[in-house]
Amino acid sequence: MKKKLVLFAIVLFALTTSFSFAQDGATTFKSKCAICHGPDGSGKTPMGEKLKILDLRSADVQKLSDAELTQIVAKGKDKMPAYDGKLTKEQIDQVIAHIRELAKKK
Ligand code: HEC
Repeated sequence: MKKKLVLFAIVLFALTTSFSFAQDGATTFKSKCAICHGPDGSGKTPMGEKLKILDLRSADVQKLSDAELTQIVAKGKDKMPAYDGKLTKEQIDQVIAHIRELAKKK
């Protein structure tokens, strides 16, 4: 009986942690990136203006390949923080897909 309870607790723990990892790109962008880049990626935030962030939807950013964008997000660039170790490779892929979506919506 006790064993079953422990097993149940482990399964529950595994489920809830994988759920929190299963955040999609939009959620990750809003929670990690929007503070500087703005919820729409425009960079029109107090932080964005101070750091002179480019509009992520602009041609200058969109012309970068997924590999280059991944590199910037993972390793950082100048004042842009590195997300290697803070986001999984999957989350970075999703967040980049979200940046592409934002550009389409503009
Ligand atoms: C502390 C503020 C800050 C946060 C948070 C932040 N960024 Fe940035 N980001 C910057 C700055 C500043 C630059 C411009 C770097 C440069 O070229 O000088 C930048 C540049 C970029 C670029 C490249 C565009 C260019 O200028 O060439 C991408 C792509 C990007 N950020 C994506 C993201 C993503 C995705 C997240 C969230 C996971 C994020 N950023 C979070 C500040 C931030």
